[in-house]
Amino acid sequence: MTDSPLHILVLAGGESTRIRTGGPKALLDVCGRPLLEHILCASDGLPPGERAIVLGPTHRAPIEKWMSGQGLLDTWKVCLQPQPDGTGDAVRCGLPALPKEGRVLVLYGDTPLLRPETLAFLVEQQGNCLLTALVADPSGYGRVLRDDEDGSLLAIVEEKDADEQQRLVQEINTGVYLLDVAGLRRALEEVENDNAQGEFYLPDAAVAMIRGSSGEQHGTVVCLEDGEEEILGVNDLRELAQAAALMRDRILLEHMERGVIIDDPHTTWIEDGVEIGAGSRIMPHCVLRRGVRIGQACMVGPFAHLRVGTVLHDRAEVGNFVETKNAELHEGAKSKHLTYLGDAEIGAKANIGCGTITANYDGKAKHRTVVGERAFIGSGTVLVAPVTVGDGATTGAGAVVTRGQDVPAGTTVVGVPARPLPARK
Ligand code: UD1
Ligand code: CA
Repeated sequence: MTDSPLHILVLAGGESTRIRTGGPKALLDVCGRPLLEHILCASDGLPPGERAIVLGPTHRAPIEKWMSGQGLLDTWKVCLQPQPDGTGDAVRCGLPALPKEGRVLVLYGDTPLLRPETLAFLVEQQGNCLLTALVADPSGYGRVLRDDEDGSLLAIVEEKDADEQQRLVQEINTGVYLLDVAGLRRALEEVENDNAQGEFYLPDAAVAMIRGSSGEQHGTVVCLEDGEEEILGVNDLRELAQAAALMRDRILLEHMERGVIIDDPHTTWIEDGVEIGAGSRIMPHCVLRRGVRIGQACMVGPFAHLRVGTVLHDRAEVGNFVETKNAELHEGAKSKHLTYLGDAEIGAKANIGCGTITANYDGKAKHRTVVGERAFIGSGTVLVAPVTVGDGATTGAGAVVTRGQDVPAGTTVVGVPARPLPARK
């Protein structure tokens, strides 16, 4: 059975009602990526097969637009679930997009912390398979009921359908299933919606397939014993913040394992997809956005905000209350205090004084500022882009270097607007 093709079906057709933001929960940010992107990425490395995602009418347009922007529609087929009638109904809507044979890994779009290794392990299993987890607080999840005597799977009961006794069960359904496509199609025909939510539950079909009709188990249940964090489902904004914090910790740990010094993980936000070289130090209260690249032995923070397109070469330093965007600081360049560097290139060993601003936006378009090697930008300088300050040039405190008024290498300019410093007599 493991040789049969593996297809993937992601369910994201729900209405996101518990989120209460009005928009789709699939696109809410978790450490620099939409919630949905995490699960799509986690399944990236699995064996090839068809991939489909189920979306609902309310949020289909923005999700599809985002997927198209990411080039995901080349890989993922979109299926519409006309009404949110439950996860079983969502699978019914998705199955026509998949071949009639093979296995399907069904994933929910709201479980961003699932690890690729867990999915890879699961798809190695023989036959139908259900992923469960033992958790300290099972509230909100479907509880896994087992036979007292032989421990075999009996049912999954949703929180809203569970009695008090069942709610105490700490083994929960993670929402990850590996099932035979043809068997699933048949099992879904038998599923009823006579439950508290009036919905067709996918777990009912999965249980029927794994239990088999003879009472003898026809599949496996893989239980994660320390999977509490990994299986977190995001249903409301409290869980969104929880997921982001867990993901943040995971990202920080990876950086620390590669030799990045992080003074205070509790106040440091490094998004997914940031590169940092060994020996660099990130001080408290920094935010490093996705795509930022930092070399070795750099110093960042405290209180720095490094935005998209920021590149720090080795030994560059960015200090407190400095914001950078599309800014490249070459080796050993420093910008230590109260500064905005946007659309800028700062030469090696240049020093950007306290309070410097690159005025990069003229209300219509963004323009570039280039500061040469070893240039010295005085405190409170405003560099109105487009403008170039040459190698080794100096600006006086409070200078406003106006657009196009490039400062030649080795010269000094002062004042408003900045002019060359008259030669001393
Ligand atoms: C579901 C499971 C529960 C499990 C938990 C794990 C069911 C009935 N319950 O509960 O056993 O413990 O996940 O996180 O499956 N969706 C659709 N169409 C629908 C309804 C939902 O596509 O009509 C999608 C949602 O967008 C979401 C996923 O399916 O991505 C799960 O739905 P959700 O409503 O969040 O289910 P839970 O109540 O969390
Ligand atoms: Ca959920």
